[in-house]
Amino acid sequence: MPQNLIKKNESKIYQNHSGSNIKYSYLYNLNLSLNSKIIDMFKGIKYVFMQGSSFRAKSLAKKFAKVSFGIEEEYFIPQNLFPNAFFEGYRVGNALSVSHGMGAMSVISLLYDITRLMQACNNKDLQYIRLGTSGGINIDAGSVIITDTAYQYDLSHGYTMLISDEAHIIPTHMNNELNNQIINAQPADLPFKLLLGNTIATDDFYLGQCRFDGAIKPVYNEKMRQEYFKQIMKKNIYNFEMESVALATFCSRAKIPAAMIAVTIINRLNGDQVTATSGELIEFSDRTHTVAINYILSQTK
Ligand code: URA
Repeated sequence: MPQNLIKKNESKIYQNHSGSNIKYSYLYNLNLSLNSKIIDMFKGIKYVFMQGSSFRAKSLAKKFAKVSFGIEEEYFIPQNLFPNAFFEGYRVGNALSVSHGMGAMSVISLLYDITRLMQACNNKDLQYIRLGTSGGINIDAGSVIITDTAYQYDLSHGYTMLISDEAHIIPTHMNNELNNQIINAQPADLPFKLLLGNTIATDDFYLGQCRFDGAIKPVYNEKMRQEYFKQIMKKNIYNFEMESVALATFCSRAKIPAAMIAVTIINRLNGDQVTATSGELIEFSDRTHTVAINYILSQTK
């Protein structure tokens, strides 16, 4: 039976290794050794923006440089600060734009080492914000969803994490205050829908999201899928993706405010295949950048 961590003594379980005391100095997932040069490079970061692909992480850094410092994108070549790692990271002022790969395990790997890095730099008042794509459930493609609570496969909120030889259910609420700040930073004439709702995170794009177009024959049928979608909608879950539970659960333990902004690229009530053109997909993803930029600009006013 999974244990519910909320019922245990929080101060013991949710220990955050903050402070700049560097006892262990090698960050495996970033392939980075903590030394004074590295600490100088990352000192002062407050906002960590995460996206799946390194291309998108770089693109956001270029946009931040333009809006925050007036540097035209063509004159700014962002430097990858994790040159020997799977993940890429680009710094602009007090924002770090990083790639996290795909799926909960990939995000968790990044989060552990990014957080250890931020702790070693003694960076305070951190905020972690994931930008991504998702499959809408009864939501028009192109809408942007800010996640209130992340749900797992069985429509419970909380994430069942395997910690050593035990399963623990850890809370998956995003940070309300941060969500409100992001929403309040948006202009009234935002040219797309922005909604606050719940999100379900799955282990994969196909069977986990009740698709029929994957490589493995599903064990469910159309009737079962419709029932699942009905239950999903009852919980105000607006979109499927693969990382929200990992972000929320990690940040609830590390006590770092977290938010997720994900655009829907398909309405799953209309089908399984993503039919948007590559141009439309870029435009949809750019909407999450617009929301993030409005937020960052509101923080510097
Ligand atoms: N990402 C997902 O996880 N699912 C979708 O349907 C689209 C994007």
